[in-house]
Amino acid sequence: MSNGAGFEIIGVDGSGDGRPMQANQSSNTYWQARREHNRVYYGHATALAKKYAAGAASLIDVGNRGCEYVYEWDWIHDKTVLDLSDEIFRLDDTVQKIQQDFLAWRPERQYDLVTCLQTLEHFEDPLPFIDKLHRIQKDILLVSLPFMWPADKAPLEHKHDPIDLPTIHAWLGSEPLEQVIATERNGTQRWVGVYASRGAGGR
Ligand SMILES: C[S@@+](CC[C@H](N)C(=O)[O-])C[C@H]1O[C@@H](n2cnc3c(N)ncnc32)[C@H](O)[C@@H]1O
Repeated sequence: MSNGAGFEIIGVDGSGDGRPMQANQSSNTYWQARREHNRVYYGHATALAKKYAAGAASLIDVGNRGCEYVYEWDWIHDKTVLDLSDEIFRLDDTVQKIQQDFLAWRPERQYDLVTCLQTLEHFEDPLPFIDKLHRIQKDILLVSLPFMWPADKAPLEHKHDPIDLPTIHAWLGSEPLEQVIATERNGTQRWVGVYASRGAGGR
């Protein structure tokens, strides 16, 4: 994956099954290419959001890339996605879109639910990104990461494989309210975790 907009090679993180894939193959979007092989972790993310953020009125999904899983979170009416990629503009008008570098963005508010799926692993130093996620989190933070991927599975994209539980817990800085390891049909594993706000007993 590159950080640029549009239709570049998604790479192994796009397919989730180790096969490189083009985002524009057969006029596929990133989401269309990805959802088929990644149902399990998207399902866990939705279930955990329902369980821990049932009362949420606002959401921001950081690093969304036009993924329609946010439609599943339909009890939340104030929905925003943020990404460097212009693929977020494929989402419909129920979703507000911010095309920007998250680290450079100057948020003017907090969000009840903050989500960041399959994004932190792309940074040499994910800590400033995580710190900012916590700062815009009014209530719940939901994160996913590749779990124990071999170092040669996504060598150009992922900076930390294999990512294990001690690494995840050190990055996020506190015990999750709940965590699951999602295993896709092809064996690909992702960790999904939920965190209370720091003000509610977090770091
Ligand atoms: C692997 S995709 C994850 C997409 C989606 N969350 C999912 O789980 O399928 C990672 C996304 O993070 C975005 N991203 C990377 N660095 C970013 C930054 N500094 N600010 C905003 N978005 C960023 C990329 O553009 C990309 O769309």
